[in-house]
Amino acid sequence: MLGERPGAPGVPAPCRSLLLLQCLLLLRAPAGLLGDQTRRVSLEVIPGPTDPSQNLLHIRAVGANSTIHYIWSSLGPPAVLFVATDTPHSVLSVHWSCLLSPEPEGSLAILPAESVRFSSALLFPRLFEFDSTNSSEVKDGSPGKPYPPYLLADFSWDDVNNTLDPAMLSATFRGHPSKDPSGTFSNGSLAFKVHAFSGSGRSDHIPRLLHTADTSQLELVLSGAVPQGNHSLFVLEVATPALDSECPQLKEQEFIDDEYCPSVFQLDQLLWRSPPEGFLQWRPVAFSQKQPTWKKALPCRVSPPGPTLATLLPQSATVRAFFGPSINFCAFNLTFGDSTGPAYEDQYYLSWSAVLGIGIPPMDSFSPLVLGIMVVVLGLPALLLVGGGLGLLLLRHRRYSEYEPIN
Ligand SMILES: *[C@@H]1O[C@H](CO)[C@@H](O)[C@H](O)[C@H]1NC(C)=O
Ligand SMILES: *[C@@H]1O[C@H](CO)[C@@H](O)[C@H](O)[C@H]1NC(C)=O
Ligand SMILES: *[C@@H]1O[C@H](CO)[C@@H](O)[C@H](O)[C@H]1NC(C)=O
Ligand SMILES: *[C@@H]1O[C@H](CO)[C@@H](O)[C@H](O)[C@H]1NC(C)=O
Ligand SMILES: *[C@@H]1O[C@H](CO)[C@@H](O)[C@H](O)[C@H]1NC(C)=O
Repeated sequence: MLGERPGAPGVPAPCRSLLLLQCLLLLRAPAGLLGDQTRRVSLEVIPGPTDPSQNLLHIRAVGANSTIHYIWSSLGPPAVLFVATDTPHSVLSVHWSCLLSPEPEGSLAILPAESVRFSSALLFPRLFEFDSTNSSEVKDGSPGKPYPPYLLADFSWDDVNNTLDPAMLSATFRGHPSKDPSGTFSNGSLAFKVHAFSGSGRSDHIPRLLHTADTSQLELVLSGAVPQGNHSLFVLEVATPALDSECPQLKEQEFIDDEYCPSVFQLDQLLWRSPPEGFLQWRPVAFSQKQPTWKKALPCRVSPPGPTLATLLPQSATVRAFFGPSINFCAFNLTFGDSTGPAYEDQYYLSWSAVLGIGIPPMDSFSPLVLGIMVVVLGLPALLLVGGGLGLLLLRHRRYSEYEPIN
């Protein structure tokens, strides 16, 4: 069918295959969001008035008619605000003394306020640790025996300015518990590595997530901390404001294609609103090695986001400043690893990546490998068909000419 497209009569079959390939490649190009194909992306640290651990990290992606802002902070638990506006001139305004006060409402804004088209946030309140060795305790979705959780609002975070790389558009929030009586973090840290992009592409590192200039990537790295038990499992709690009293929707999508992500046929997404205006996208894998390999990948399970009481969550100054004190939250858990297989304790290392963005999430259609197979699979019959057709024509022509002298 595809090989016999009416628009391409007389085109030899191999060229038709190329045409098909081109069409499919065009389909692959990630669509621009908010109508803007290109953005000027910059990343800056907005220094706090006194304490360097109170800096904000601001990513600004400016298009022809819109701007996307990502504002990362560790005032309270690590959090990111993401805001889309319909003007290339929107700016971040911060009133520091108010932001650091107990009532930060309104002290952080994207101006002009009426240009804001979409806004949401993610907070990372707690890191749980479980002992998964006792199989009678690992059941009903419980990862095992819990250890006291790490409250990320009580971490002390290094100055993000020291890790800022404006050329690479990256920076890292690295922290450890401010009180660590048992010394589990004396050689360890928890890091939120933030990466923005000036264009579309795919990460060099597995799981090779897609990105665009509209997105920013988060890599969570727990490294060097002494686990509290044997075969510890870690669980990251994530919270987000409930927009219009609704939780973002969790969508787990299956793929047939695994060229970039062999053995992981699933893409997990959190979608704000429908059609999506914001998203978080990840592969359900984590890694327990600095040089990750697919063989040593850990499964990453996600619980569906559900409403949670704001009182159960630590306050994030930036989120409260932007959304006010009376918003509701949704929360979900990401569980890294299971009771068997590779674990954090192998190398005291755990990493997990996700891409956060505005608009429709970038989507893999088909990898070149599968495209190649499709071209061969669809192209070969087309070749045979056209070849066969030609043969028949020739044959008919010959018969005709054979009969001609008789007529
Ligand atoms: C920007 O807005 C103008 C006026 O509304 C419109 O003509 C133009 O096509 C838009 N550009 C993009 C890239 O969306
Ligand atoms: C496993 O957990 C069960 C239930 O909590 C407990 O009775 C049992 O002693 C535990 N086994 C070991 C080896 O710790
Ligand atoms: C931290 O690292 C030092 C040097 O490598 C080592 O001597 C010490 O035992 C480590 N501490 C912990 C708690 O692992
Ligand atoms: C870890 O395993 C070792 C050997 O199996 C055991 O001696 C030790 O008590 C275990 N530690 C914990 C915290 O369960
Ligand atoms: C996340 O896991 C922790 C520990 O099991 C639990 O206390 C908390 O309620 C969970 N949160 C959600 C939203 O499932």
